[in-house]
Amino acid sequence: MAVRKDTIFEQFLSPVLQLFIDRDGLEQFYRSIDWETEGDRFRNPSLVYPAYYSTQNFHGIEQGYLNPRAAVSYDPITQYVLLPSETLIRQAAIEAVYGKPRRILDLGCGTGSTTLLLKQTFPDAEVIGLDFSPYMLVMADYKAKQAELEIKFVHANAEQTGFADASFDLVTASLLFHETPPAVSRAILQEAARLLQPGGEVLILDGNQKTLRQTEWLTQIFEEPYMQAYASGNVDAWMGATGFGAVQTQELWWIHQITWGVKPLPGQDPDSVRAHPDSVRIDDSALPDAGFPAPAFE
Ligand SMILES: C[S@@+](CC[C@H](N)C(=O)[O-])C[C@H]1O[C@@H](n2cnc3c(N)ncnc32)[C@H](O)[C@@H]1O
Repeated sequence: MAVRKDTIFEQFLSPVLQLFIDRDGLEQFYRSIDWETEGDRFRNPSLVYPAYYSTQNFHGIEQGYLNPRAAVSYDPITQYVLLPSETLIRQAAIEAVYGKPRRILDLGCGTGSTTLLLKQTFPDAEVIGLDFSPYMLVMADYKAKQAELEIKFVHANAEQTGFADASFDLVTASLLFHETPPAVSRAILQEAARLLQPGGEVLILDGNQKTLRQTEWLTQIFEEPYMQAYASGNVDAWMGATGFGAVQTQELWWIHQITWGVKPLPGQDPDSVRAHPDSVRIDDSALPDAGFPAPAFE
């Protein structure tokens, strides 16, 4: 795997994770797919990648998500990062949704773990996953097909999706904002506001900014180029400044946070939007047994 050798991730974390990861299985799976041909099923050739995306390594992998190996290693690593349980954290975020959305857009969907759970939770909704990386979309589509879930995956920029105004009633982004410069996160929130119909909900799951500010070492470990900038910001404030109402952030297991907001009705003052009826609930007494594990590498 094309990784840099001088990062904390590569020197310390990666060797530990390797103990738990079936490297041979991953390699076999990687070789079983023609990534360029499969990527072409999604690739939008007119898409231009901004420098923050195309010139950075993420998680020690050169070219970040534009390297198909990132799509293969993402799930096996993420399951150990989203503690105490990846499915619990993703499910808790989805439980914060108040309404019954009919059209859902998952921005920066990656390998589709949250997207699949959204479709499972709202089976009647049209669910679309959007990502900048055709290879992450290949993996997301593979997982959706394995789970027999009908989800559309789109290769696009979350800042300018190309979808019509007011065409969704739920827009989500999980683990996206710690990987984008704050100006990009704010532009994505603007786009979410444009895409939502009045009364529609936006839901952001990501690292707990308060915790990350106090634990700088955590921000360095994963070789996340924008994590520190993310940690010094405030999703809650970004959402308020975008014009969302009833914005609420809930801390989850110290290291994660969920931020929820509503697009006001036309002419409605965002401050008068009704607050979420429950604070975000999380039932940690019953951990779901299974989510969408990394593909079985046979
Ligand atoms: C850490 S992954 C999160 C994936 C997934 N949402 C999850 O919860 O596991 C971040 C994803 O955001 C995508 N991404 C980053 N910037 C983006 C942008 N401007 N537009 C669309 N996708 C973007 C990356 O390609 C990557 O797949």
